[in-house]
Amino acid sequence: MLKLCVLVSGRGSNLQAMIDAIEAGKLDAVIALVVSDVPGALALERAGKHDIPTLVVDHRKFKNKDDYEKEILAAVKKAKVDLICLAGYMRIVGSVLLMAFRGKMINIHPSLLPSFPGLHGQKQALDHGVKVSGATVHFVDEGCDTGPIIIQAAVPVLEHDSEEALSERILEEEHRLYVQAIDLIAGGRIRLEGRVVRILSA
Ligand code: GRF
Repeated sequence: MLKLCVLVSGRGSNLQAMIDAIEAGKLDAVIALVVSDVPGALALERAGKHDIPTLVVDHRKFKNKDDYEKEILAAVKKAKVDLICLAGYMRIVGSVLLMAFRGKMINIHPSLLPSFPGLHGQKQALDHGVKVSGATVHFVDEGCDTGPIIIQAAVPVLEHDSEEALSERILEEEHRLYVQAIDLIAGGRIRLEGRVVRILSA
């Protein structure tokens, strides 16, 4: 069974969606570890309620990114993790984690990439005036939200949408999409060809 590590910094609603799908028997995976770079993140509380092992690795306590990521990598290796899922993790992944988990590390972003990467994808979409935005699950590479795209979901931008309303609508899709992407990987249905992801039929 696919063993996951979920990397978080905050609220953890995507983590919750994974937990719920696993507990409902809809996702054949196990969350072996939740790592937060932020002490006291709500995501840690969510994991704790389901007896999922958690670890706080506070980046401020390390002299550089390599040392910080080595600490995470040691825990991930100890837990024999197959796939790292970034879920509201607010740091750019560095070379230590990338070298060990390239092609085995995914992220969710609240826009239709490659449009509106980085912070506040929903506000960027509103400011640009696009009529459709959405969510993207992609493999992580050295850039910010630039890795190969696995799956996407479109969400309409409505007349007079607020950032909150659009974010809420996208978030609902995120929860469905992230579980779907992990399920595809768990089922061995994802093949990475250069920067293009092929989805193999079931
Ligand atoms: C989500 O919108 C995700 O796409 C983005 O950060 C937010 C995290 O939300 N990367 P949560 O912590 O999973 O509730």
